[in-house]
Amino acid sequence: MTANRTHSHAQWSSRLGFVLAATGSAVGLGNIWKFPYMIGQSGGAAFVLIYLLCIAMIGLPILVAEWMLGRRGQKNPINTMSELARTHKRSQAWVLVGVSGVLGAFLILSFYSVIGGWALAYVGDAIGGGFRGLDADGAGALFTGMLANPGVLLLWHTVFMALIIGVVAMGVIGGLERAAKLLMPALGVLLVILVGYGMASGGFGAALAYLFNPDWSLVTGEVVLAALGHAFFTLSLGMGIMMAYGSYLDRKVDLLRTARTVVIMDTVIAIAAGLAIFPIVFANNLDPGAGPGLIFVTLPIAFGGIAGGALLGLMFFLLLTFAALTSAISLLEPIVELVEERTPLNRRAATVVAGLATWALGIAALLSFNAWSEVLIFGLTVFDLLDQLTSKFLLPLTGLGVILFAAWCLDKESVRKELGLGAGAFSVWQAVTRFIAPAGVLIVFFSSL
Ligand code: PHE
Repeated sequence: MTANRTHSHAQWSSRLGFVLAATGSAVGLGNIWKFPYMIGQSGGAAFVLIYLLCIAMIGLPILVAEWMLGRRGQKNPINTMSELARTHKRSQAWVLVGVSGVLGAFLILSFYSVIGGWALAYVGDAIGGGFRGLDADGAGALFTGMLANPGVLLLWHTVFMALIIGVVAMGVIGGLERAAKLLMPALGVLLVILVGYGMASGGFGAALAYLFNPDWSLVTGEVVLAALGHAFFTLSLGMGIMMAYGSYLDRKVDLLRTARTVVIMDTVIAIAAGLAIFPIVFANNLDPGAGPGLIFVTLPIAFGGIAGGALLGLMFFLLLTFAALTSAISLLEPIVELVEERTPLNRRAATVVAGLATWALGIAALLSFNAWSEVLIFGLTVFDLLDQLTSKFLLPLTGLGVILFAAWCLDKESVRKELGLGAGAFSVWQAVTRFIAPAGVLIVFFSSL
């Protein structure tokens, strides 16, 4: 069992395996579900442009910083921060960065799994012919009927968590990496088919215009904030995930180049999701600005009406499920790494314990939609509370801590060498990580309060 105790020396088997796992984490419900509806609500292409800027100036530097800290610490995010604070003669208060990261991952996974369960349930509906002939009312009723039924939500949340636990229990190479190598190519193929269908449908031109013609009059402060927040969420930052993933990373891997690859793939897939969804929406005269219901209410109307709609619906919700699974796997990893390193449990037992705890909290989240819809804490349901607590507090604060530690506490020369930068490029890196990215995070933090 000593192999289990020293698992922090576990490593990705190759750079490709790491890239796929990190991209799998980044590409999730945020890309397929949230990004398209945010575009729909926030004024189309102008939002996309601002989002891209946020990714470049804030998302990418924090991603690199998380990997760098994880790779230097070689442990779970809490022990990594403790170790780095000690070796750099800084206050142990930095440990809080690791604590809020892992706590954030735990809280997010509990409700992320509930939404992953919705995706699974819709896969079932597509197979069972549940979309056939749906009109707007029928699609609305299908969705609200599911939310109103705690048994159904519990079933799919449980199946979803069981899949995640099964994968993570098998370890970094046998579980995380293998799942990514299987699911990410499958996701790519499904997306290509769906975008291909979109091109052939009558709505592609309208979708392109919607996604790529900027209308700057729609850009408000709120839109900028939403773009910033999403840049954070979509790269799985501020949750200890990328730190945990970095702890399994070989010294030789080029962080900047790898981050660029992951960020590009994440963005391309998010935009491709828009190119899969909006043509169907426009070709069927549906409303692109339906918000969170865009995927679970609007699209099923189309799937219910068009030829081959059941198959398209199946492919679409499988795509959503695969994206959610690889992200949820990454959410469980930092918690498992922590339990494994701080208790006598081996990896399997640690995964089951961490997974069961998350599953249990998820039950409170799913009851928010029905039995406990009247149970309010600070005026919010449990589901909304978990969402707001993480997205407004834990994630930005963790991200801020990560970037500040990396920019101000690490030895400058060693960072410059690690990133392989010349003096000029390194001063750009420093300006971005010391000032621009932290200022960006702070702005989002205070304006969302
Ligand atoms: N990055 C994932 C997405 O875009 C979301 C996620 C958030 C994944 C938090 C892991 C952790 O959906």
